[in-house]
Parts: sequence; structure tokens; C-alpha cells
Amino acid sequence: MTSISLDSAALASLDTDALVIGVTPAGAGAAPAAGAEDLDRAMDGRLADALGALGATGKAGEITKLPTLGAVTAKIIVAAGLGEDPSAEDLRRAAGAAVRSLAGTARVAVALPAASAEAVGAVALGALLGAYSFDSFRTGGDRKDPVAEIRLAAAAEHEAAVDRARTLAASVKLVRDLVNTPPSHLTPEDLAAEAGRVAAETGLAIEVLDEKALVEGGYGGIAGVGQGSVNPPRLVRLAYTHAEASRTLALVGKGITFDSGGLSLKPTEAMDWMKSDMGGAAAVLGALDAIAKLGPKVNVVGYLAIAENMPSGTAQRPSDVLRIYGGKTVEVLNTDAEGRLVMADALVRAGEDSPDLIVDVATLTGAQLVALGTRTTGVMANDDDVREKVVAAAERAGEPSWGMPLPAELRKGLDSAVADIANISGERWGGMLVAGTFLKEFVPDGVKWAHLDIAGPSFNKGEAYGYTPKGGTGAAARTLVQIAEDLAAGIL
Ligand code: BES
Ligand code: MN
Ligand code: ZN
Repeated sequence: MTSISLDSAALASLDTDALVIGVTPAGAGAAPAAGAEDLDRAMDGRLADALGALGATGKAGEITKLPTLGAVTAKIIVAAGLGEDPSAEDLRRAAGAAVRSLAGTARVAVALPAASAEAVGAVALGALLGAYSFDSFRTGGDRKDPVAEIRLAAAAEHEAAVDRARTLAASVKLVRDLVNTPPSHLTPEDLAAEAGRVAAETGLAIEVLDEKALVEGGYGGIAGVGQGSVNPPRLVRLAYTHAEASRTLALVGKGITFDSGGLSLKPTEAMDWMKSDMGGAAAVLGALDAIAKLGPKVNVVGYLAIAENMPSGTAQRPSDVLRIYGGKTVEVLNTDAEGRLVMADALVRAGEDSPDLIVDVATLTGAQLVALGTRTTGVMANDDDVREKVVAAAERAGEPSWGMPLPAELRKGLDSAVADIANISGERWGGMLVAGTFLKEFVPDGVKWAHLDIAGPSFNKGEAYGYTPKGGTGAAARTLVQIAEDLAAGIL
């Protein structure tokens, strides 16, 4: 993994391969941002001219590369556009895009304008996230090694901010790796084993229910979805406890290691990225990994509802009826609406921890993508204040999200002719809200709850941007950590 350290030495004198600086719009052209002064001196004050000649404008997202031609040890300068008055997220994205553009370069020094602890932390996190690559299944060829060593030009007093960035980056890397791992190599058992590894490393308590325990315990949703696969399902419970905590947060993640749709089979184009359907469970695991290291004063339990959704002679049929943990019955009219079935078991079970707040995360609906696009998480809740505070926490964590309603009239569409509820609606519209409405039925009475639909945000089918690579993005892990910290601080 990429290392990062603080370095207060002058930029021009650093023994490194590449220098990252900021560039902002200035008049008709662009100017190097704070942090690049001594480098500009070493280049005879010609940095702004050179950037201008290369067409740099300083707008956010822009990357301009220029050779140093021997003026300093580093061979190349990467100027990252910051736009006017950059936010923490602008800094994260600029650092990420710059470091990402340097894949194949061993040593990089980053000198973006970062005076406050918050800004240093943002640059550090963006740089680490931008250095990510997933190469476990490549055997050579065009493979480029990720940046190995990052030196951050900032005051030594900001070590704590860098350390927090290291922790968050490691947890996002874990989530991305799990999402990127092909389902041939990440079965429900494998995902539960990964949770076991994290628990052993961090001291989290763990309980794993196997397929036998799930059937005997009455977890009909997870057992029903998992029964069509030769790879049996699991329910994992992880727990972080703080001796002085007065509140408990329960996190619940959808962990479908592959979603073929089951007998309600998906078309080919919709299926090839369904290895990402465990992104919610991965985010919960990643968040608990970071929470265990950061130590906020709050108790956090995490549930990973894990199954593989496959068609077979043992698969559940459209029109089967399941009994969810706690006793409610569900008529399965479409086996591709499987996420809500596994989540229902875990939501009910989470009630046994007497949580002050439940937050669930799931790649739940294609309708999320229709409503909000590929990058913005849909946030629903049974309480307006909770929904707004969760959206605010996501914003501070640097993850785009938007509050969505759960209109009461949608419940009627889920009425079943034979069971307590059906898993799909007769009503075509508002699919993300319908799924949220279904989940709401399984939230324990009197417990505050928020639901994050990350169907789009968890997996980037397009080109890399900012600190976000192609493939698994790590979505929601940082938001969940922020929520735990907000609960600990009494903000939420
Ligand atoms: N895992 C999918 C949702 C999904 C779609 C995630 C695209 C990521 C990208 C989920 O299990 C699903 O199949 N949902 C159905 C529900 C429908 C049958 C009511 C959907 O959205 O089409
Ligand atoms: Mn599905
Ligand atoms: Zn699914």
C-alpha cells in the first residue's frame, strides 16, 4: 500500500520523481497556488508563463503536466486545477486526480495549498485514494504500479490529520477491493471470512450465522435468497463498543456477492456489474474497520446480510412466501428484488441491539440511478431530522447524497393477495422509494432509521475522475464513519 508522510523541506530540494502543485484561475490565465513558491523560484519565476503556454486555466479537475528539464531533482511537475476558493472536497479531488495521473511513478511530493488541519487531511486522503489500483488478477502486460511513496508538503503539527486520512483510505481501499473482487473469488463464505479477518485485526466482536443457523433462527429472507446457490448465505454481526458510550448505532449492509436476478433472471447488460451488489455490506465492514481504529465514544454494531442470488432447481420461485426474522411474511413476486429480503431479516435483528439509530446501506434499485444518476446516493428515513442530518454528514465526508421522500401512498402497491406484504409493487413509478417503503416495514417500532441507496455510487462503470477509480468506488464507508462520529459528538 502507498505510504504517506509529512515533509516540511523546500519543494525544489526534494529527492523525488514528481511534484504536484495547485493552479488557480488568475485574470485571463492561471497562476500557481500557495505552496509552489520555492519551486517557482527554482524555475526562474516562469511557472505561470509555462502553465499559460500549456493552456492551463486552473479550473477544478484540470491536470497539466510539465517537464522540469533539470531545474530540480523531480523530472515532472503536475499542476492540479483547484478552481476559485477550493473546498475540502476540491482539494481531495485535485490531489486524487494528480496522483492518479502519476500511476507508474514511484515517489511523489504533493504541495497543494493546505494550511489548516482540515485541508491537510483532505489533500492526504485525496492523494491516497487516487493512488489506488486493483491488480490482483493481472499477470503483467500494461500494468502500472501505483505510486509507492507520497510526501506531503505541510507542517509537522498536522500529523493527526494525516493519520486519520490513512485510516479512512485503508477502509475505502478495503471496500473497493471487496467490490472489485470477482464473485468466483468472493462467495458469501469468503465475505464472512473477510469480516472475520478485520475483526481479528481490530478487536471487533464477531458472530457469524451459517446457512443452518439462518434456517433454524428463522431468517427466511437471507435463507430464501441464498437457497438457489451452491455457495450458502451468511449473516455477520460485528460490534465495536466504547466504555463511555451512551448511544448505539446499528449499521446494516446488503451483501449480495452476485445478483443474477435469480429465476427472474436479469438481461446480460444488467448482470455484468452485479459483483458490486455487496457494496453496502462492504461499506459497513469498511466503516467498522475505521471506527475501531478512530475510537469514537459510541457503540456501533454492523450487520452484513450476505447471499448469492442464483437461478437453479433449488432457487426460490416467484410466488413463494418467506417468513422474515420476527415473523412477517413476504410474497416473492420477483426474485430480482432480493436485496430488500435479506435486508429485512437484518433490520429486524438489529432491533435486538436497542439502537438509537439504524442506518442501512444497499445497492438496492436501478431506480436510484434513474432518479439521481451514477454519483449521488439517495437518502430516505422515517424521520425528517435524521434524513437531513445524514445528508449533512455525507456532505462533510465528501460523498454526494440527496434526501428523498417515502410517500405514504406507496405502501398500498405492496399489498399481497396471500402474505403480509409483496416484495414488488404493482405501481411502476418511484422504484427507489418503493424499496425504501418496503424496508421501513421491518424497522423496529420507535427506532430512528435512515436508508442509503448506493446502486449507482458504489460502482463506477465510466472513466476515473478525481480520486474515484473505475470499478469499486468505496461509496458510503466515509459517510458511515462520519455518522458514528456525529452520534458520538451529540450532533446527530
Ligand atoms: N442489485 C439490484 C439493483 C441495482 C441495479 C444495483 C443496478 C446496481 C445497479 C437489485 O437487486 C435489483 O435487481 N432491483 C430491481 C428491483 C425490481 C425488480 C423491483 C431493479 O431495480 O430493477
Ligand atoms: Mn436484484
Ligand atoms: Zn441486488
